[in-house]
Order: sequence, then structure tokens, then C-alpha cells
Amino acid sequence: MVNLNYIQDKEKLLIAFDSLKDEFVPVYPLFSEWLKNTMNDYLTGSRVLLGIEYSKTTVGYVLIHYFDQSAKLNAIYVFPKFRKKGIAEEACKVMFGNLKQKKIQILFTQIRPEYPNARKLFKKLGFFQIGTIFNSDEQNNNDLYCISLDNFLSVEFIKKSALSIYTKYNIEWK
Ligand SMILES: CC(C)(COP(=O)(O)OP(=O)(O)OC[C@H]1O[C@@H](n2cnc3c(N)ncnc32)[C@H](O)[C@@H]1OP(=O)(O)O)[C@@H](O)C(=O)NCCC(=O)NCCS
Repeated sequence: MVNLNYIQDKEKLLIAFDSLKDEFVPVYPLFSEWLKNTMNDYLTGSRVLLGIEYSKTTVGYVLIHYFDQSAKLNAIYVFPKFRKKGIAEEACKVMFGNLKQKKIQILFTQIRPEYPNARKLFKKLGFFQIGTIFNSDEQNNNDLYCISLDNFLSVEFIKKSALSIYTKYNIEWK
């Protein structure tokens, strides 16, 4: 059984950030700088880092950014030796339940071409692609996927919500 553990202690956040570096820095060289710049958000709660707990062991992390009634899944990571056991899938389902309780209606995520397994995971969970965005800091394109946590939202509404968030945060939309 998978549990998600909210981490808000600075030292524990730094340990978690450090363990993510090897995976993400090679594909996103600004990863460590980005984490450092957003540390305050994790301490104040506009972003959250959740430890994925499995048999009382931390086996990975989830990074979420809140925007009003939407949220962005910035990253999910399972330590290599715990992969392919259904942990990420279960962690996402637990996370969906937590987000629904917080009245979050839409969860979106960007998928990099370097992570085809993540695309499979998100599609399996019911995410669908609503567009492609251009990352000006890296000069690359990422696919934007969404999942509605509220059964009554139209695809048009979901697209409009994602677009308004990206416009607000100056992220170019293609
Ligand atoms: C992507 C990642 C989080 C998946 O974690 P996991 O616990 O191994 O995933 P699960 O066992 O829950 O797999 C769920 C589904 O994801 C997909 N998937 C996961 N790993 C896969 C792999 N190695 N090859 C193909 N599909 C894979 C499959 O659809 C799988 O369902 P299936 O087993 O019925 O085919 C993990 O591989 C990881 O941390 N990778 C590095 C970081 C990363 O890519 N993060 C995502 C982008 S931020």
C-alpha cells in the first residue's frame, strides 16, 4: 500500500531535492536552480513535495504546484529499484483523492520527449493531451496533458483553464 507524506521541513526538502538531481539534471540542466528558486513556495505551501511511502520506506517523490482550482504535477519520481511495481500508478491515484478533497478540478502536467514511460503512465491514468507548449528557457517543446478530477468539466473548459494559467505565468502556448 502506498501513502503520500507531505514534506515541509527545509532539511528534508533539501534531501529530497538532492535525490532527484541525478534523474532530472541531465534532461533539465536548470533543475537544481529551479528547485532552489522555488524553495520558499514549498515552505509556504503553494507548491508541495510529497514523499511516496511504500512498506514504511520512502521510495520516491511527487512535486505539485497549486493554481487556484487547478494544479500542475511538476514531477513524479520512483527510485529505480522500486520501479515497475505499480507504485507510481497507486501514488497518483492517492494524489487524485487528496486533490479532490482540496477542490482541485484539473491536474495538468508537461511531458518531455525524454520520458516516454511517463507518457504511458499518464495515459493509463486517464490524462489526455490538450496541446504543446514551448519552454523558452530550454528552447524545447513539451506536450501538455490534463486530467479532470471533476467528471462534469468539458474538454473546452479544461483547455481554457490550462491556457489561462500558462498565459498568467508567461509560458508560451503553441
Ligand atoms: C515514470 C516512473 C515514475 C514510473 O514509476 P513506476 O512506479 O515504475 O510506474 P508503475 O509501475 O506504477 O507503472 C504504471 C504504468 O506506467 C507505465 N510505465 C512505467 N514504467 C514503464 C516502463 N519502464 N516501460 C514502459 N511503461 C512504463 C506503464 O503504462 C505502467 O503500466 P503497466 O505496468 O500496466 O504497463 C518511474 O519510471 C520514474 O521515476 N522514472 C524517472 C522519472 C520520470 O520519468 N518521471 C516522470 C516525469 S516527471
